[in-house]
Amino acid sequence: MCRAVREGGGNGMDDQNTRERIYHDARAAFRTKEVSAARTVRPINDGWLYSPEYRDGLESGAADETGFAPVRLPHTNRELAYNNFDERDYQFVSCYRRHLYYSEPPDGCVFLRFEGVMAAARVYFNGEFLCEHLGGYTPFFCELTGKIRAGDNALAVVVDSRERADIPPFGYVVDYLTYGGVYREVWLEQTGAVFADKLRVKTRRSGEGWRVEADVVIDNAAGVRRDARMRFTLAGTDGVAARFEQPLTLTGEARQQASAAFGAENVAIWDLNAPNLYTLGLELICGNDLLDETAVRFGFREARFAPEGFYLNGEKIKLRGLNRHQSFPYVGNAMPKTAQARDAELLRYDLGLNFVRTSHYPQSRHFLDRCDEIGLMVFEELPGWQHIGDETWKQNALRALEEMIERDWNHPSIVLWGTRINESQDDDGFYAATNALARRLDGTRQTGGVRNFEGSRLLEDVYTYNDFVHSGRNEPLKKPGEVTKSRAPYLVTEHNGHMFPTKKFDCEQKRVEHALRHLRVLERAYGTPGISGAAGWCMCDYNTHKDFGSGDRICYHGVMDMFRLPKEAAAAYRSQQDEIPVMEVASAMSPGERAGSMLERVYVFTNCDSVRLYRNGEYVGAYFPDRAAFPNLPHPPVAIADFIGDRLARNEGLNKRDAERVKRIFSAVARYGDKSLPLRYKLSMAYAMLKHRLPYQNAVDLFTRYVAGWGTESTEYTFEGYIGDRLVARAKRGPAASAGLRVTPDSRLLIEGDTYDVCRVVLEHVDTLGNVMPFSNEAVRIGVSGAGRLIGPDALALAGGSAAFWIRSEGAGEIRVTLDSPRFGAQELRLEAVLAAGE
Ligand code: GAL
Repeated sequence: MCRAVREGGGNGMDDQNTRERIYHDARAAFRTKEVSAARTVRPINDGWLYSPEYRDGLESGAADETGFAPVRLPHTNRELAYNNFDERDYQFVSCYRRHLYYSEPPDGCVFLRFEGVMAAARVYFNGEFLCEHLGGYTPFFCELTGKIRAGDNALAVVVDSRERADIPPFGYVVDYLTYGGVYREVWLEQTGAVFADKLRVKTRRSGEGWRVEADVVIDNAAGVRRDARMRFTLAGTDGVAARFEQPLTLTGEARQQASAAFGAENVAIWDLNAPNLYTLGLELICGNDLLDETAVRFGFREARFAPEGFYLNGEKIKLRGLNRHQSFPYVGNAMPKTAQARDAELLRYDLGLNFVRTSHYPQSRHFLDRCDEIGLMVFEELPGWQHIGDETWKQNALRALEEMIERDWNHPSIVLWGTRINESQDDDGFYAATNALARRLDGTRQTGGVRNFEGSRLLEDVYTYNDFVHSGRNEPLKKPGEVTKSRAPYLVTEHNGHMFPTKKFDCEQKRVEHALRHLRVLERAYGTPGISGAAGWCMCDYNTHKDFGSGDRICYHGVMDMFRLPKEAAAAYRSQQDEIPVMEVASAMSPGERAGSMLERVYVFTNCDSVRLYRNGEYVGAYFPDRAAFPNLPHPPVAIADFIGDRLARNEGLNKRDAERVKRIFSAVARYGDKSLPLRYKLSMAYAMLKHRLPYQNAVDLFTRYVAGWGTESTEYTFEGYIGDRLVARAKRGPAASAGLRVTPDSRLLIEGDTYDVCRVVLEHVDTLGNVMPFSNEAVRIGVSGAGRLIGPDALALAGGSAAFWIRSEGAGEIRVTLDSPRFGAQELRLEAVLAAGE
């Protein structure tokens, strides 16, 4: 709340001083975004000083800054190894400082906004304590109005990254890491004496059009009493869609609630394939003075969970999703916009999903913004994991829930609020409070609460359930009514995960079974009308505490690894979409990798209508989606168990019936091995040998030629994917030579905007057929020079044939990346970092 107010203009911030005194980098430390003459937003992510050791007095105005190092935000308090570290390494109290230079004290109100500090922050300004915030996942602000003086001002943030029992999710064990530091962005906001806060847009269908309702809090600590007006401008990509003005009498209240409603015709809805977004601009005007100007982005859409399923804009849609943790290798949660937005793109485009759960806390606003832009629906939940603490803890949880909803209520992508601590026990008092709070703040969205037991007391609108019943051969999911004991709307919020941890470098059969388990669950979700959808566990592998995971501080539960590189399960999801043709052959076709050296059955994850197979150029047959096993999936996988096709009949002069008999015997040999062939196949084999006067050795030769391929020249398989008669995909498998290291940056351009940018570079050892060599673990040394630097260690070993690393920009200019490897020799990559327009 704005308390001290001065008249006049100018903000007096002196960039030059800042640059010279503090920041050890070549680029400007401040960049200003003029929202309007009445409001200024300045990111202050550069020019910070950091000390991993906190000692008394470091928060004071004139503290000795010896030992502090210059850092930029987002910042992690300690970089970690990829795995096998000790999670206690980042659990300490540290101190961040930043100087703000003003040639004269600024006018109006000034706020310091923190997007996320893990896990607790105490903020001091010129030695004066300003505020404390407990909880690392939600934003908070401190007011600097009237406190800024001409010259140097010292801001200090004391950051406690220990697992304190008063802050969710702590108090018991947690299966993920929270890391530490000022890991999201910070900005300074300067407004006039009277300004608009918490602008919130609600949309309702009304006749042929929509009704827009805007709620806003007018901050007027100065107690101004005058007639004013609110001017709203609704704009889409095509320009202004509506304007509306409403008188407003400033009553002198410090926090005055105001609202307005108007009709909007001809607006385009927010839908998955056309996620149309609008902004609602608000100008607060008094006479001829613009008191404030602000804008929020939102969409027109209706989302509803019902007992018979989920509806978006009246259309029933099955939610197909994954859970996402926000962590990355080495730097934990401290990643800027590009990496956050890229995760949303990976989920939507690469994995073909329509839904994500931000397990188990509110995630970066950049991630959510991108979900809005690309049509990825979100279930966002308050921070917590299994444990409910004492009263103080609960108050902190409620505050985090409030901060989450107030930050995110305008995102059209968010279709459900999570108001329960993930997998906690029933606690009626606490959950009555969380639900009441969510409904009071946002009556437009339903609530859910993730539990892992049946018949829990439902205080939310949707029974959201982690269903880990599937262990391979049994039922994939429980029946909704069996779990809810009622007819509540129902959503599966986790499955698989710890039931079948799978590494990208595990053996092929395991990776394929991992993919199939996800598909079996999806199949059941699609086949059960009352299940709104399913979010699998989870998008990527993640670092965890010693009590979880594979003993190396990683839970290998992702359909991608920590670098966001796909396992077979990623292809299984990807193949369920219709946007692009997908045909991923889930096998290297290396018999020696399979039990008994037999291929037996190969899966192709595809949305094609048919797959044609050729062996050394000879047509084997056409294969079709396995609708018998997966009747409800949008795109069942193609299972190829017959590698002989009609070649026996064609080449060996057998009639159709005998050719089929021999094929059956051969596939039984492949499945059981010749030494333990069931009797019926032995008899059948004897019959076939007698009938065709086939000596045993000739039968073995046939088997070798058509099935095993031992001792033959290399066997190359070609797969062709067809949609109707159109060839849309081709892949080859077979023994192939190493072709080298494929280096693929996500982008060649890094853009320094509010802070540094990052770019992922993917390394893959590929063969001459263009496939990643699944067991390559070659070493690569990475050098980065110019306007960028490497995140993480400068030497990597590929795992499962691939690895990746991130580069961050440091100012503008060329970034030179050198890759050196005993196996591949030297390669070079050039990227470019530029300043965002207006920087
Ligand atoms: C769930 C939990 C997740 C994760 C998962 C592993 O019980 O909610 O956070 O630990 O198990 O499968």
